[in-house]
Amino acid sequence: MGDAESVHKVLKSGWVSSEGPNVKKFEDRFSRFIGHKYSVAVSSGTAALEIAVKSLNLKKNDEVIIPNFTIISNALAVIKQGLKIKLVDCDIKNWNMNLEKVENAITSKTKAIIATHIYNFPFRIDLLKKICKKKKIFIIEDAAEALGQTILNKNCGSFGDISTFSFYANKQITTGEGGMITTNNKTIYQKMISLRNLSFGKVDRFNHDDIGWNYRMTNIQATLGISQLNRIKKIVKNRHSIGLQYYERLKKNKNIFMPEPEKHFAKNIYWVVAVLIVNKRIKLDAKKVMQKLNKLGIGTRPFFWPMHKQKVLKNLKMHNSPEFTNSEYISKYGFYLPSSLSLKTSEIEYICKKVNLILK
Ligand SMILES: Cc1ncc(COP(=O)(O)O)c(C=O)c1O
Repeated sequence: MGDAESVHKVLKSGWVSSEGPNVKKFEDRFSRFIGHKYSVAVSSGTAALEIAVKSLNLKKNDEVIIPNFTIISNALAVIKQGLKIKLVDCDIKNWNMNLEKVENAITSKTKAIIATHIYNFPFRIDLLKKICKKKKIFIIEDAAEALGQTILNKNCGSFGDISTFSFYANKQITTGEGGMITTNNKTIYQKMISLRNLSFGKVDRFNHDDIGWNYRMTNIQATLGISQLNRIKKIVKNRHSIGLQYYERLKKNKNIFMPEPEKHFAKNIYWVVAVLIVNKRIKLDAKKVMQKLNKLGIGTRPFFWPMHKQKVLKNLKMHNSPEFTNSEYISKYGFYLPSSLSLKTSEIEYICKKVNLILK
């Protein structure tokens, strides 16, 4: 049964809200796929992060390390619990946090790390795990962009004490909007289940147990999620194939860097087809190139804006390292190209021809 048929069937059944049976079914299938015992379906990847951080019961001045180059959702989840953010710069050609810098950023106040997989290759969370185990630091693995990705054949999203996922429309699988949280820890799982649903009272329903949220996923979304999860292997394969077609046509251009299809520890998932301008002498930054491509009918997106430059985070006195050279550079010189699964080879050829022409 396809996506539309499944959704049609569930609409006809009348089970539309989060009370419907497919929410639990989606959670169970997701747990099995990832390799964690428990899953909690929620309304977005951002909601997943907020619940994950709160479920750790950290204290006011505890520090949480997050990437400087990431989606703001990582920072928001920490701030909203009154915790302190410590930012770590990324690698220049990998775009994930630099592991050595993470290690150096750890202090006795560090209680958790949000380890986010960014864009193409996964963050070496397998290596971070060894460090955190010794120091008793929680890892929240943000695998929003990395569903179906592996590190040394182990699923991304299976490494964190808690892992979070997004099912927004641009992710590997989508429920329109949606997210998932997974863990092996039963206590944390029970807390997350409660936080997702306004922490309704266990004794008296409307005398609530905690400051929770309505971050529930509907039965309609879960139905779509199940249908999409059935196809995850094919989706990941197709995405890789699109990335590969771009790579073959752009790899010879010395003015840009595009991550290779494979490293010894992982395949490139090509969640986005990301391009970084590496030759500053051509006097073009991402903004200018994107404008030129836009005029040719080619839609692009900029890289993330680094956290230390976010105007809304300015007053937070984040415990920063003095320099974020790499995230500053890539946010100015990086952009990504169209990567819809419906893209034809002829369209990729056209886009690459124009990119090579502009950046020659
Ligand atoms: C790494 C990462 N984490 C979290 C999110 C937030 O997910 P959502 O848009 O579902 O809230 C995103 C969104 O793109 C993301 O890229």
